[in-house]
Amino acid sequence: MQYDVIVIGSGPGGYVAAIRSAQLGMKTALIEKYSVLGGTCLNVGCIPSKALLDSSEHFFNASHSFAEHGIEIPAPKINMEQMIGRKAGVVKKMNDGITFLMKKNKITTYNGLGSFVDKNTIKVTKADGTSEDLTAKNVIIATGSKPTALPFIPVDKKRVITSTEALNLQEVPKHLIVIGAGVIGAELGSVYGRLGANVSFVEFADSMIPTMDKTMGKELQKSLKKELKAEFYFQHKVTNVVNNGDDVTVTATNSKDEQVTISGDYVLVCIGRRPFTEGLNLEGAGVAVDRGKVVVDEHTLQTNVPNIYAIGDVVRGAMLAHKAEEEGVFVAETIAGQKPHINYNLIPGVVYTWPEVASVGKTEEELKTAGIAYKAGSFPFKALGRATASMDTDGLVKVLADKATDEILGVHIIGARAADMIAEAVVAMEYRASAEDVARMSHAHPTYTEAMKEACLAATENRAIHA
Ligand code: FAD
Ligand code: NAI
Repeated sequence: MQYDVIVIGSGPGGYVAAIRSAQLGMKTALIEKYSVLGGTCLNVGCIPSKALLDSSEHFFNASHSFAEHGIEIPAPKINMEQMIGRKAGVVKKMNDGITFLMKKNKITTYNGLGSFVDKNTIKVTKADGTSEDLTAKNVIIATGSKPTALPFIPVDKKRVITSTEALNLQEVPKHLIVIGAGVIGAELGSVYGRLGANVSFVEFADSMIPTMDKTMGKELQKSLKKELKAEFYFQHKVTNVVNNGDDVTVTATNSKDEQVTISGDYVLVCIGRRPFTEGLNLEGAGVAVDRGKVVVDEHTLQTNVPNIYAIGDVVRGAMLAHKAEEEGVFVAETIAGQKPHINYNLIPGVVYTWPEVASVGKTEEELKTAGIAYKAGSFPFKALGRATASMDTDGLVKVLADKATDEILGVHIIGARAADMIAEAVVAMEYRASAEDVARMSHAHPTYTEAMKEACLAATENRAIHA
């Protein structure tokens, strides 16, 4: 065999698996069908979306809150070419960073489509049509996901677009219709809403980000309603999309069977993502798939073919970069004979809107469904000195703890810097802290993290100090 490990796909799952394999002394190759490394997350996902979220936030603040801070500037203008160009520069810098890491760890990279010939042989077909066969003792499938499509929504990538095109627009839409108010809808709807677009969210469920704790969706909607020119159509099922070039019309039906028609100049379709295995020729190795997902053993992430593993978006579970990374490390260590562990209950979820939303553990709805007796403690950001100083007063921290033992079961935060604050909750829950444990720890003043301490005090015996 040429390699100990071949990884197919260079996203956060794949390239991290390759680095950990190499660190453990295994001869490793990484195959990527595109000319750049980093996968969805780096090229058309996490990083470019955050670059545009940051740019649009600066524009929004310059337009709306600088004056109140006593900073007078002429009305700011948008230079879309520069904004998109900066985003591309950020991505390029990180592409180069991953290429450097591959060299540093002596990982051989191949640019081409990887497909199984048999369980130990992968054919790499390059862009010029030439191909070569590679052999390995172990193979890790990390081929990620693609946006879900609906047959009656004709995505032309110009006016009816997915997140990939939304990260590359050359103009600010006048009216952006967002189909699906999940994570992508909330983030990219915010980007263009902050830049001045009218945004209509059409969502099948009864709230935004419906898979998170219900309080989060409600609070986020309140904030976005204040911040953006936004309309919300909840419990609306899209039934038709007509693309007339510069003008697109979306028809949706609500729970009472009433029809609404919304017209705009761009439609963003973000109704979820599906695992991607096209071109892999899984049949060549006999790897089993269930509803598009590569089937894996819960304890080892092995497929039904023992030397072939699968990680990240292509398998069950949350479609998140850090979940893919944990699985990459897990599989490399498993192949090396170690016994690693992942606590799937403690993978945080973050939505990078303003205010940010961040969650870990069980939602209130999940605890109710499971019949677990719990106590809830909440603390609003508006009661924090730090939030008042910066005028970021929207939001709250909600801590859910076991009624009998006080162990923290879930933490849900909406507010400034929630994305960074959630790390404290992950650490606390990993060590099975009680709400009172966290409530008794000193939190620096004035910081946003005081809301976590106060929410824990509220959950303990309703003893929040500043509420
Ligand atoms: P991917 O990153 O999808 O990588 C798979 C790679 O495999 C791709 O490069 C693909 O070209 C390659 N490939 C596929 N088939 C083959 C083949 N046969 N041969 C060779 N190569 C192949 N997650 C977060 O945690 N935080 C965020 O802020 C966040 N923001 C997001 C924003 C957007 C707009 C989107 C779309 C997603 C976002 N995500 C975010 C989700 C995150 O991008 C994914 O969970 C993550 O990229 C999954 O990693 P992966 O390694 O499984 O697959
Ligand atoms: P999502 O699952 O978050 O949201 C899709 C939404 O579309 C849901 O609310 C669903 O109810 C709705 N929907 C489905 N069909 C519909 C229809 N016919 N009409 C109206 N609404 C409909 O998926 P999304 O936003 O596409 O993101 C895909 C994945 O990418 C997510 O799983 C997420 O984990 C990941 N991602 C993560 C980010 C982060 O961590 N910050 C950012 C962006 C994406």
